[in-house]
Amino acid sequence: MKTIIEDMTTGIQAAGIARAGKILRNGGLVAFPTETVYGLGANALDEKAAAKIYAAKGRPSDNPLIVHIAETEALEEIVVQVPEAARQLARAFWPGPLTMIFRKNDRVPYGTTGGLDTVAVRMPDHEIAREMIRAGGGYIAAPSANTSGRPSPTTAAHVADDLWGRIDMIIDGGSVGIGLESTIVDLSGETPVILRPGYINQEMLQSVIGTVEMDKGLIAADSSVRPKAPGMKYKHYAPKAELVIIEGKAGTVVDKINKLIAEGEKKGEMIGVIGTDETRDAYRGGIVKSIGSIHEELTISQHLYGILREFDELAVTKIYSEAFDTPKMGQAIMNRLIKAAGHQIWKV
Ligand code: TXA
Ligand code: MG
Repeated sequence: MKTIIEDMTTGIQAAGIARAGKILRNGGLVAFPTETVYGLGANALDEKAAAKIYAAKGRPSDNPLIVHIAETEALEEIVVQVPEAARQLARAFWPGPLTMIFRKNDRVPYGTTGGLDTVAVRMPDHEIAREMIRAGGGYIAAPSANTSGRPSPTTAAHVADDLWGRIDMIIDGGSVGIGLESTIVDLSGETPVILRPGYINQEMLQSVIGTVEMDKGLIAADSSVRPKAPGMKYKHYAPKAELVIIEGKAGTVVDKINKLIAEGEKKGEMIGVIGTDETRDAYRGGIVKSIGSIHEELTISQHLYGILREFDELAVTKIYSEAFDTPKMGQAIMNRLIKAAGHQIWKV
């Protein structure tokens, strides 16, 4: 298949949006930027189109897709009922990095929801995304636009690396703003539950609707409790090199990692380090990448997946990462980092 690129890095282009809309209405696949990560879009109401997403990504067919909409009114058309809490959250955070789970109606095919009676819905805070959704018919199913098992793409180049020749179009909108996937909240039960932490954190949700729980499967260090979002249970991305998080006071962490670099290099190993602008110069040896300043959480979240992709291109055998337990997004950042590390955290 020929993949075409629409360059919208300098702004939205009406002709390109029209071409994307046509592809989507004809059942094709278009990768597009959102404020979180790049998505791989298809018409959510067309089972055959949705099936193409699974094929292109190599994604298990029981892992449901998020339906993206461009106006709040579109929500009523695809769900059985919109609970009051969802209305309040939509008012507060849509368009934005929040996905909510509802009971679906018959318009949404099971091919989009992985066989579930519920549907995940989100309205992205990105002009290109919303215009493309409108042009494509208003309901666009979109998982992250990576091959299954790779980190979510935060640039169009990441998408091209994974899906070139497997999809019809990539809209290049430059680097994304947040860099981690949306927060997912399940509102289909008694108490709202966070299935995946993201930019919209527990505190922000609670300030609008009161008590919100964290899915127990997210917190469990082992896999004894099954996460409720099907996608959280699959073999997720793990870097080619062994990744270990070193957690503790800044100075102690740097000392420990320096010791590990020295030991590794003595054995002829190439060691990768994920540090910050504040610590990068304190490392002796290794291939050190700064994720940004520890005081700028959005920079850290933006860079995480890109850095992991960069290390996959290098011949490092081990990667040691500092922990980035920042005030607002720390939970989301550490959730992704801990998963990538296969729960290997050493406290020093
Ligand atoms: O930020 C995002 O949410 C990005 C952009 C493109 O919008 N999309 C994204 O999609 O991260 P994906 O498919 O990579 O992750 C969707 C997650 C999966 O873990 C999936 O299992 C879960 O949402 N999910 C989808 N529908 C669900 C449902 N009905 N019930 C529970 N979990 C659901
Ligand atoms: Mg994904």
